[in-house]
Amino acid sequence: MTSAHAPERAGEPRPRVCPEPGNAFEVRPARRADLDQVIAIDATVTGIEKRKYWASVYRRYGAGESAERHFLVARANARVVGFVIGEVRDWEFGSPPCGWVFAIDVDPQARLGGVGTQLLQAISARFRSAGVTKLRTMLARDNTLILSFFRSQGLMAGPLMSLEMDLD
Ligand SMILES: CC(C)(COP(=O)(O)OP(=O)(O)OC[C@H]1O[C@@H](n2cnc3c(N)ncnc32)[C@H](O)[C@@H]1OP(=O)(O)O)[C@@H](O)C(=O)NCCC(=O)NCCS
Repeated sequence: MTSAHAPERAGEPRPRVCPEPGNAFEVRPARRADLDQVIAIDATVTGIEKRKYWASVYRRYGAGESAERHFLVARANARVVGFVIGEVRDWEFGSPPCGWVFAIDVDPQARLGGVGTQLLQAISARFRSAGVTKLRTMLARDNTLILSFFRSQGLMAGPLMSLEMDLD
């Protein structure tokens, strides 16, 4: 679900929710009470509000402790300002277990303050604790923003490629 990126919707101006650079924010596992804010951030970024989808993601990745599945939120000033979701996948595509990040989003009002970096570091630490040594993700080729972000974090092109076709 490192979702192909749709244009962000123009909305009412909102106050900046990120602390000034250098100020603290926390990263912790998502709670059900965070979901409305997660849904709002996703809707801002993708232009689509997907309540049923997010309820199902929360059931699979958020509820309960798991060493393999993670749904983390970053919070600043008592608000969710970003989230990351991923899981350890075993032997897919013939590859040894690795940590897949399939969604990362930061509230547009909170970007460029290190939130994305902290989220990726937090999920990476959990993957390491689960015993994996490789992080993977997938992104739309034309999404230069997320590409710049992942490159800044040290991700590079890997040995896998994606293929697809239309099913009529
Ligand atoms: C990509 C994203 C997660 C980055 O979050 P962020 O909190 O702004 O990231 P950080 O502040 O930690 O930035 C880390 C680095 O990423 C790179 N980066 C982030 N935003 C960038 C931008 N707009 N232009 C170029 N590079 C950028 C920079 O190298 C930056 O380091 P620097 O601040 O020292 O220059 C955020 O912009 C986002 O949610 N984008 C849209 C959502 C999306 O496309 N998600 C993927 C689909 S699930």
